[in-house]
Amino acid sequence: MTIGQGERTSIDMGAGRTLAGRRVLVTRARARHGRLADLLRGAGAAPVLFPTISIAPADDYTALDRALGMTERYDWIIFTSVNTVTYVEERLRAVGRDWAALSPLKMAAVGPKVAEALRGRGVTVAFVPEPYTGAALAAALPLRADEHALLPQADLATPELAEALRARGARVATFVAYRTTLPHHDATALRRMLAMGELDAVTFASPSSAHNLCAVLGDDAAALLATTVIACIGPSTAAAVRAEGLRPMVVASAHTAEGLIEALEDYVMSTTSQDGLSGSSHPTESPTEGPRDAESPLERARDARSAELFAEAQRYIPGGVDSPVRAFKAVGGAPRFIERGAGAHIYDADGNRYVDYVLSYGPLITGHAQPEIVAAIQDAATRGTSYGAPTRLETELARRINAAVPSMELTRFVSSGTEATMSALRVARAYTGRDVIVKVEGGYHGHSDGLLARAGSAATTLGVPDSPGVPAAVAATTVNVPLNNLDALEAALRTYEAAAFILEPVPANMGVVPATPGYLEGARALTEQYGALLVFDEVITGFRVAYGGAQGLYGVTPDLTCLGKIIGGGLPVGAYGGRRDVMSLVAPLGPVYQAGTLSGNPLAMSAGVTMLDTLAKPGVYAYLEDKSRALHEGLLERARRHAIAAYGARVGSIGTLFFTPGPVTDYTGARASDTARYARFFHGMLERGVYLAPAQFEAVFISTAHGDDDVEATLRAADEVFTTL
Ligand SMILES: Cc1ncc(COP(=O)(O)O)c(C=O)c1O
Repeated sequence: MTIGQGERTSIDMGAGRTLAGRRVLVTRARARHGRLADLLRGAGAAPVLFPTISIAPADDYTALDRALGMTERYDWIIFTSVNTVTYVEERLRAVGRDWAALSPLKMAAVGPKVAEALRGRGVTVAFVPEPYTGAALAAALPLRADEHALLPQADLATPELAEALRARGARVATFVAYRTTLPHHDATALRRMLAMGELDAVTFASPSSAHNLCAVLGDDAAALLATTVIACIGPSTAAAVRAEGLRPMVVASAHTAEGLIEALEDYVMSTTSQDGLSGSSHPTESPTEGPRDAESPLERARDARSAELFAEAQRYIPGGVDSPVRAFKAVGGAPRFIERGAGAHIYDADGNRYVDYVLSYGPLITGHAQPEIVAAIQDAATRGTSYGAPTRLETELARRINAAVPSMELTRFVSSGTEATMSALRVARAYTGRDVIVKVEGGYHGHSDGLLARAGSAATTLGVPDSPGVPAAVAATTVNVPLNNLDALEAALRTYEAAAFILEPVPANMGVVPATPGYLEGARALTEQYGALLVFDEVITGFRVAYGGAQGLYGVTPDLTCLGKIIGGGLPVGAYGGRRDVMSLVAPLGPVYQAGTLSGNPLAMSAGVTMLDTLAKPGVYAYLEDKSRALHEGLLERARRHAIAAYGARVGSIGTLFFTPGPVTDYTGARASDTARYARFFHGMLERGVYLAPAQFEAVFISTAHGDDDVEATLRAADEVFTTL
């Protein structure tokens, strides 16, 4: 930031002139834009106008969603660019549909590339104009007067196409499929100004201006705007700004351009004496002291330090995080940076304390920094951190695992759950001599290529990549089946010579959605009947739902089991194991190659041994059950009291509150949950010191460190938050 540096160090503190010389970015394209700029000029500031084109927000999918729900009848869908095809596909995926959902519509493509993109997705293209122009399409599309066309709006030319079609008497619905960005050179200039600290403040006069500016700036918008004062015209604009991961410092309550300028002036008045307009640490040369107004927006936000750290992280780390869910994308806003954990609590960089129900997504079943585990790690570290040679610790841990989970006759340690499932499936394929893997739709088993496959266009067809970069050929070796549907499982096993059926015996990655009674037994019988191995991914459930995992709890024995999380006591670990004859294929005993520099790491093994010894003590699982029941029943009871449609599913110390009235028995049901409401619930709880997973489709985890006071505080917070949903 520039205040306090260079020629703009002398600040006129007189009334109405506090903005003298300030460079203030005005981001709105329409009405308020000019007026705000004039008012800023009147206040002595130097407005920098940046027209973010005023279009509907990019997430306005109403028309498309209506088409998907078939509540509205469309006859045509017109694609004007490959980008639009991609964008529509993303939306289909986001709502759990695929191109088949659009098959009742006739497709038109403005040119051969677009047509090719559609055909590559198995879609029939009914019309391509000659020549390949929007005008030709508008003129020649065989659209009857009674037909209704849907036009995903991909660029500024599209409204003209819509108008031309309407001029022919057609009914045309458009939706914004693609954010309009500014010409490249404009965005570059803006980025440079921000990066050089040449802008003192940025004003947002509408929610869409926040949206659009961030679209223009791209992934590092938060980083570029981290040290610039952000001023918003009112609370809804501030909310939109927060949803973009930015931190509003000035929020005008008057909701007028004048109000915005006044609030900005107030802010400048009160901050220049302290640390400059930016809130940066540069000393100013205008040390006029003045007490801070407790009511003003000058109070440092309670997430200010986290916001700074996030901005910095984004300079060097994709999205600022090392695992996507941590970025809060599913709930909006910016993540809290955590400084330390103790027991059931975590503390962020701004000193806020939270009751933690994430527990590193499961490993910390005895809470943060449990003294015995810390001591074990410290002790192990004094003897060295890794040898690349066997240690007795690995045997110690494998023996404990075998005692708790007898089906794991032989166990191989790896460094993550992803490695465990990937390796287990390699062994299953080697053992059966088959390639296809069947998995449950909505089940997550880590991010190896073969497991990042989603369902093809119909039930039990071969999978398609669920992420760019996954080869189609690899995804096509995976078949997804709906949870709790033995007929679908049988159909998949019958149709494909499957090597294995892999599932979380208590699915916890679509939220917790337990297997219905008989499903696991049925899966066991069917896999045997069709010669496939049954692989339980107990990365979450192992030592969590019971000491013996879900297989101990339900009495169903798989051929192979994958573990992770808890068995490393909070250090990176994974394991796979099972029938001796199957695991004997693993090198060096057998021909199936699998290895790891840090596999069986002594720190992780020590932490794991201590963890399992702690969990083997009497009463542990009864305690977890008790706290978990109190929490989940309490949440549901309060939701009911506030007439919030909610459904809770829980197995032992994992559970999920879905914002949907009906029971959730599979992925489709889970996705029916009102995720926008979850996002509001999440933020309300976060503000009240309760840290839930920043995504609906995760579990709420409880540890032995959670006490009645934590549960009670959580329920009190929920009681308040439910009144706001
Ligand atoms: C059931 C399940 N399997 C596998 C994995 C992947 O484990 P990791 O993140 O350690 O690679 C996860 C991660 O959350 C999981 O929940």
